[in-house]
Amino acid sequence: MSEPEGERDVHAEQFGVKHIRDVYRRGMFEDESPDFPVSFDELRAEAAERMSWQAEAYVHGGAGTEETFERNKDFSRWRIVPRMLRGVADRDLTTEVFGQTHEYPLMITPLGVQGMLDEEGEVATARACRELDVPFVLSSLSSRSMEDVAEALGDTPKWFQYYWSSDDAVAESFLDRAEDAGYEAIVVTVDAPTLGWRERLLEKGYYPFLEGEGMGNYFSDPAFRAQLDEPPEENPEAAVDHFLSIFGDASLTWDDLAFVRERTDLPVIVKGVLHPEDARRAVEAGADGIQVSTHGGRQVDGSITAIEALPEIAEEVGDDTTIFFDSGIRRGEHVFKALALGADTVMLGRPFAYGLAHSGQSGVENVLRNTISQFDLTMGLAGIDDVGEITREAVRDERTL
Ligand code: FNR
Repeated sequence: MSEPEGERDVHAEQFGVKHIRDVYRRGMFEDESPDFPVSFDELRAEAAERMSWQAEAYVHGGAGTEETFERNKDFSRWRIVPRMLRGVADRDLTTEVFGQTHEYPLMITPLGVQGMLDEEGEVATARACRELDVPFVLSSLSSRSMEDVAEALGDTPKWFQYYWSSDDAVAESFLDRAEDAGYEAIVVTVDAPTLGWRERLLEKGYYPFLEGEGMGNYFSDPAFRAQLDEPPEENPEAAVDHFLSIFGDASLTWDDLAFVRERTDLPVIVKGVLHPEDARRAVEAGADGIQVSTHGGRQVDGSITAIEALPEIAEEVGDDTTIFFDSGIRRGEHVFKALALGADTVMLGRPFAYGLAHSGQSGVENVLRNTISQFDLTMGLAGIDDVGEITREAVRDERTL
């Protein structure tokens, strides 16, 4: 596509065949076996050993019996149909999103409270993204402030995820700050009108926000601070109470999306859509993109999975809007299948969180390098040399075989 050859070569050097050759060579001739787990299950197990019980309960936790969380990861219904001898030596992984070139069709999904996983929290993840040119979406509920994270990201594409605040002054302040700090799109999460039933947290009686975790944006916000009698540094309990009183709003309807639409010129993505009619409503309400997501199975246990929802949504609005996808992405093959079923770009969640808990910035880099390499190899082995050419033809529905 539009990227100069030289740029692409730099990235190609780190991924795909080059990456696996390096791993084999180091293992065989330099006696350096990799110390970073390759499979997701192994990574999660090793990361868990390094995490506090609080972090493990928070990150791992899905809603209820975790049925949706588990099923999210099952992409097996869709079978890749590889094509041969199509000249795939020069593979183009770049993709255009809202007029900007992204190096890969992979972004970091908003995931709150990363300070529970690493001392540097979102700043460590941001540095990994900057290193590998992977776009980053920052949660409203981050441990570090949006300004700190923007600085760590430099020129790397950066978006801000917005959680509704029932206080308009704080809401406006968040949107203004995000734009001032250089965030280039606003992701509005709509699937959390109330708390989910998360048994891992309920069993322990633990909720991170009550101890002031994930308050990086609130405690630094001038509008939020102006509403407190004492600053959060002096009275954190009162500040947390105030946060809880303005966080979320179960009375919201599609008409309320206008609040965000009118207050920002940035592209707006509606995250947490699972029904084609909701996707249509989002587009009608002025959204520039929608993110198909079950919030990682953390909200409605027993719900349809994100990959089940994707094809119908793509059919309904795929021609009119940009489609993002998350929930259950663990490997490059999953990225490939989601793109084939209509996503334009895919967001990675828990794998990078476990990478962060495992070994900080370098852990996130390892996860990204492995995932992008798997994707690149899958694409090449399937006979496709351009991300834009991964279409529905590339997969078959097992149920129709
Ligand atoms: C999330 N997710 C999330 N989403 C959001 O819009 N704002 C947020 O602050 C968070 N926080 C958060 C914390 C943790 C620990 C997890 C696991 C998830 C949801 C996230 O963006 C994404 O939808 C899921 O992570 C996708 O599921 P998998 O692939 O990670 O299982």
